[in-house]
Parts: sequence; structure tokens; C-alpha cells
Amino acid sequence: MTTAREGEELTRIGPGTPMGALMRCYWMPAALSSELVRDGAPVRLMLLGEKLIAFRDSAGRVGVMDHRCPHRCASLFLGRNEEGGIRCVYHGWKFDVAGNCLDMPSLPPPGFKEKVKAKAYKAVERAGVVWVHMGAGAQAPPLPTFEVLDLPEDEIRVGFIQRDCNWLQALEGEIDTSHFGFLHAGHVDVDDVSEDEPVRNTVINRAPEYHLADTPWGTQYAGYRQAAPGKTYWRFGNFLFPFWTQAPNGEFGSHMHARAWVPLDDGHTMFCYLWWKGGTSSMTLPQPAFKDGRPIGGTGRGNKLLPNTTDWLGRWRMAANASNDWGIDRAAQRDNTIYTGIDGIHLQDQAITESMGAIVDHAWEHLAPSDQMITRTRRRLLVAARNLRDKGVLPPGVEDPQVYRARSGYFVSEGAGAWQEVYARQLAAAVHPPGVPLRAAE
Ligand code: FES
Ligand SMILES: [Fe+2]
Repeated sequence: MTTAREGEELTRIGPGTPMGALMRCYWMPAALSSELVRDGAPVRLMLLGEKLIAFRDSAGRVGVMDHRCPHRCASLFLGRNEEGGIRCVYHGWKFDVAGNCLDMPSLPPPGFKEKVKAKAYKAVERAGVVWVHMGAGAQAPPLPTFEVLDLPEDEIRVGFIQRDCNWLQALEGEIDTSHFGFLHAGHVDVDDVSEDEPVRNTVINRAPEYHLADTPWGTQYAGYRQAAPGKTYWRFGNFLFPFWTQAPNGEFGSHMHARAWVPLDDGHTMFCYLWWKGGTSSMTLPQPAFKDGRPIGGTGRGNKLLPNTTDWLGRWRMAANASNDWGIDRAAQRDNTIYTGIDGIHLQDQAITESMGAIVDHAWEHLAPSDQMITRTRRRLLVAARNLRDKGVLPPGVEDPQVYRARSGYFVSEGAGAWQEVYARQLAAAVHPPGVPLRAAE
């Protein structure tokens, strides 16, 4: 179980917290590159409980900095993004993307430009995403080496969706694989779906068995059950430090993807996904259907988003949310056309994790053997955060970003076999971008 004190350590990510310090060791996907226009309006970004602005300067470089002007704390969100920097509209001080003060026109020369710096963070762009590193040190590690990041940019699909709850419970929804046969497919009778419908294997037996282990990147599980005589259906999933998941929502052999659950503040999270467009996954497969061709209720594709606003928490929000009960249709729930009455797999996960409240009260939970992946992942995070705080030990993946070359997905194997050998065999046979080989769990 997780005590209330451990729950607090795990969930709080503001400056000065142990988990906040751990998060600040890593690069975070923060915005789409397309959100920032050269010399355009700055964008408000909330990240790890800090109010930031992001902008693209005249040369195309990205700046991410505390929104407060270091002069008298006016918000640089109101600033003029012009001629190579952001100019505060209060007294005209101007800063470049690295936070250097370029101009101090409210003072007679020489002023003291070199003594003042805006608090700027490192930012890079990759795969159409702006990545931010909020660590204090001069050195930032390389980006994580997810194989999806090795693909050409036009083969990667990227998106963001805000979730209105703490990052940990959002992430734990991804590694809680036993919910699939209920939340998403509780209304699906195995006899109504054909042999080749992927959903069939999850509803054939709704109480699978699990293997799980600590890995170089975090934790890994394999849910498995007999699919047919002599055949085993496997679902592999990963937690990767500090907030990444790889879910079994695609065919293992081609499922290059990564999913981030980036803490905006303690009660809000930004989900960011990066997928290979060429893989066979829930992003690319047609909507699941019954034998007779009718679509399976609740599996509607696409997420309806509200228009972005300039608020700190105004980007990439779902139209269905707590204020409208996530669009629950009680008639569909009652007549069992949709188990939850909520349409859309992502929305079902969104509704469930948001319904727990902004931050789960861990003392209220009763974790079961089917929650071992959650327990193990919390333990791994806690130990890493405490080792960083107490001994200065850097957490996994910071110094060795190669650990991110992991894979998740589903497949059917002949017989069973030792689970990590089965994984290594599938990994070797999978489609990979040219270059660095993958490594199996150790
Ligand atoms: S507060 Fe920004 S220049 Fe004075
Ligand atoms: Fe789910």
C-alpha cells in the first residue's frame, strides 16, 4: 500500500519537492512547434507548477522562461516579441531566448544589463515538439532515445491533450491493463467478435495473469492468457522514467510510440503522444467491430478538443470534461451498447482518472494483486526521488538515455516460454528504424 505521506511525495512536483527535483532532471515535451510563431504572441505554459512563457524569436529560436520580468515582475506574456527577443512592455527591458538582457532603455547608459538575467530554461525542437529542460545545472542530458524519435518527422504523429488531474494517476491509468476488459470492453461478448478482431483476446479472459519486473528504463509488465490451445496472447507495457508510458495498444512488431504524462501543476497533466504513422495500432486500425460489421460501442475514434485559449491551463482541453459529466449517456450504459456510456477509449480513461479527484487520496485505496505494476512503479519512483534527494544519485535514463529503446504491444506466441525471452525474441523480429539496436530488459 501507499501511505498518505508517500502519496504526497509521489504526486507533488513544484519547486523544492523531491519528485519535482526528479522531474527537473529530464527533458519534457511541452508544446507543438507549430504553437510558436516567429515574432508571434508569447504562449503561456504551465510546467511543474511554474508559470512560464514560450516564444519564437526573429531567428526562429525558441525561448522558454519564467513569465515574470526580472525588473519588477510584470508578466512577459504581455511583452513585445520583436527583433530577436522579448521586450517587457512596462519599462522596455528586453531579453533574448537565453534570458540575457539586451536592452535597458529606461536607464541612462551604461545601465546594468550584464547584471540582470531573465530565468530562462533550455529548449530544443524535435519531431515537431518543443522540449524543455528545467534543471538548474549547466548541462542537460541528451533527449530520450525512443525509437519513434529516429523516424523522419513526417512519419510521426504527435498530439497533446490536457488531463485535469495529477500526473501520477493519469500515468497509472496506462499501466493498469486489467481495466481494459471492463472500462473499454465490458459490454463485448466474446462470441460476438471474430477471431481476427484484436479486442477479442482481451475479452476472452478478463482476469489475465501477469509478469512484471524492474528494468533499466523503469518497469515492465506482461499480461498473458491463453488465446487458443497452445497459443498465448501477450500484452507488454512499460513505465519509463520519469513520466513516460508505452501501452499495449498496437501490434508489438510495428508499434513505435511513446506517451508522456507531463505534470503542469499538481492537479493538471499534459498527455503528449508520439506515434509511428506506419505502425498497426489503435491510431491506424479501423474502429473495432462485431462479427456482423456493427462498430463496437464506445470505441469511437477522435477526441473533440476545445479551442485553445491563452490561459495557463487553456491548451488542448477536451470538450467532454467534469463540467458535463464527460458526456455520459445513461441509456447507452443501461442497454449495454457502451459499458460506461462514454464514447471514446481515450475519453473513458480521461473520465475515470479525473473522476478520482485532482489528487488521489492514497490512504483511501485498496490495491489488489492485479495492481502490482502500479505498486512497483510507485516504489521505483519513490526510491529514485529519495536517492536523488539524499545521495545526489541521478535517476534512471538521465546519464544513459539508451535505456529508452523499449517496446510495448500485443502479440500471440506459440506456447508460453519465459516471458522476457519471449519479449527479446519479439523485439529482435520487430520493425525498427535503421540504426541503434534495441535492448531487452535486464
Ligand atoms: S517590469 Fe519589466 S521592464 Fe520593468
Ligand atoms: Fe484505458
